[in-house]
Amino acid sequence: MPVIAAIGAQWGDEGKGKIVDLLAEQSDVVVRFSGGDNAGHTIVNPLGKFALRLVPSGIFNSRTTCIIGNGVVINPAVLFEEMDSLNQRGVSTDNLVISDRTNLIMPYHTLLDGLEEESRGGKAIGTTRRGIGPAFSDKTARLGIRTGDLLDKKAFKERLLPILEHKNAIITKVFGADALSFDEVYNQYCQYGEKLARHIRETTLMIDEALKQGKQVLLEGAQGTLLDPDFGTYPYATSSSPLAGGSCVGAGIGPTRINAVLGVFKAYITRVGAGPMPTDLQDETGKLIRERGQEYGTVSGRARNCGWFDAVIARFSSRVNGFTGAAITNLDVLDTLPSLKICTGYKLDGETIDNFPGNIATLERCQPIYEELPGWQSPTTPIRKFEDLPQQARQYVNRLEELIGCPANLISVGSAREETIFKDPIL
Ligand code: GDP
Ligand code: IMO
Ligand code: MG
Repeated sequence: MPVIAAIGAQWGDEGKGKIVDLLAEQSDVVVRFSGGDNAGHTIVNPLGKFALRLVPSGIFNSRTTCIIGNGVVINPAVLFEEMDSLNQRGVSTDNLVISDRTNLIMPYHTLLDGLEEESRGGKAIGTTRRGIGPAFSDKTARLGIRTGDLLDKKAFKERLLPILEHKNAIITKVFGADALSFDEVYNQYCQYGEKLARHIRETTLMIDEALKQGKQVLLEGAQGTLLDPDFGTYPYATSSSPLAGGSCVGAGIGPTRINAVLGVFKAYITRVGAGPMPTDLQDETGKLIRERGQEYGTVSGRARNCGWFDAVIARFSSRVNGFTGAAITNLDVLDTLPSLKICTGYKLDGETIDNFPGNIATLERCQPIYEELPGWQSPTTPIRKFEDLPQQARQYVNRLEELIGCPANLISVGSAREETIFKDPIL
């Protein structure tokens, strides 16, 4: 009954999609447990290159059941577009199941995400403007509408009426924008409900059943630890928990059932959106990493800031998630560099600290302290065995393992599924 959780250990875009697609080959069930279509998971496998936002990255394995868990917020229009595009490319979505408890992204959520960002001016969070924050706020405020609600049109009407009235008051009176039409929203979401119906289930029962039958379940993280609303760089964070703890709540399984927590780390670090990143490289090396790693948003195309691996963050991330192992991705991106830096601590107001601060103003004053390691300057993408990596690359990975505090189970040396080194077993 093994359960593996694959968790973003940095600021998102660590390569979770690639790792989940790879591990899905041995998984019976894959569950997305957080976020929404703010995620962009890139997969390169024998079927081609794909960018998934809502559909779990196990969808390419026809015997895997893919579940969108209760912790996800769904924009049905985006989901249908994604499913259609997969179907057109010969990928079946018959095995896609959606929890009846997922909250829906409604048209007022996307509208308000944009209006709120505009109103923040220079203090904008740099959200994906997909309505994620407003939808999770409504979930917590008990103003959400859930996928299961669409199955009873009368009850849905009664629920939507006062909520839309309340939202329209904010849209018109606070932001001076145009009100949304009840009929349009209601009719559109009734149609979505009809289309979604065959996928909607009580998914905790399905997961429980799979585990009782000894099947393997893979929990697919979205975003990354540093975007967590509690442990991330708040307020420059997202609105649902990408942590291992979040995977229990967002999939509906107890923590005692998780056997392995795989932290997915890039061999360096990237961030998209606003907010500080201590090892940010605003120089030629940063540019080189961006170009070699093609560090542009999977969905938005936004350039990602790139920097050296930050071990202060790695330790923190490992602590709050309880990683049992790591997947180190994009090692090949560093292939051409003559030497590499790793941040092992911060200088803060003249003192040295090695713990990640909880306060954003404090973090903004932190200066990285680096150690330097030699580069390997030879291609790693064709390599499949750890022993065959250049000695300097092995030394770099071993140092990351030491700093993260757990073994590297997987090392990714290219975007394609097979461009992977299996170092230590996950289970
Ligand atoms: P996710 O959101 O965590 O799934 O990551 P993204 O898909 O947003 O970003 C990861 C990017 O790195 C994508 O373009 C992947 O195709 C790519 N990628 C993943 N692993 C590797 C790797 O080992 N090497 C290289 N060069 N690219 C990789
Ligand atoms: P994946 O799953 C990287 C960032 C946004 C912004 C902040 C808040 O592909 O790793 P939101 O729209 O969630 O309210 O935006 O979070 N962000 C991500 N950054 N990868 C992601 O997902 C992200 N999802 C949200 O850029 O800074
Ligand atoms: Mg991404």
